[in-house]
Amino acid sequence: MNFKDYIRVIPDFPQPGIRFKDITTLLKDGQAYKAAIDAMKEKVQHLEIDVITGPEARGFVVGAPLALSLGVGFVPIRKSGKLPGETVEAGYDLEYGKDRLALHKDSITPGQKVLIADDLLATGGTINTTINLIRQLGGEVVGAAFLIELGYLTGREKLDGIEVFSLITY
Ligand code: PRP
Repeated sequence: MNFKDYIRVIPDFPQPGIRFKDITTLLKDGQAYKAAIDAMKEKVQHLEIDVITGPEARGFVVGAPLALSLGVGFVPIRKSGKLPGETVEAGYDLEYGKDRLALHKDSITPGQKVLIADDLLATGGTINTTINLIRQLGGEVVGAAFLIELGYLTGREKLDGIEVFSLITY
């Protein structure tokens, strides 16, 4: 399956000059969505994984089905102010704008092997912050899996030796 055919590219969203990769066109197609998750599973199933974590919001639609498919748990990373328990938090810059992510302190135990999943690797800011939060809790990041990688933004180079798996590259 050519997954690119299912991704809609919308010019000048959310601001002029950005060509937004819209995954809703893939998600609404049951066969394409399942095939994409199956293909991501194939790329990471050689890894030892205790838990998958993904950042709000689109990291959930990739990370949760991947976790179910691999038979491991899913830990949501949320925008600051959303998680009810004690958290570790970190701020970061996005391709456009700034944000702050939070992770429950008891969501990952020291030594756990963690796979990060998200829809998109752009500048790498989100995943870098995610890696830092996981490491603060003593988790070991075993890889990062993406539906889409924007190769021209070279986010992969920022990920500190973490193995990166991506299904579609622009
Ligand atoms: C998008 C996307 C990734 C991140 C990639 O999320 O889902 O998480 O940006 O960009 P980066 O590599 O430059 O950090 P966004 O923060 O827009 O949140 P959303 O999933 O809630 O739309």
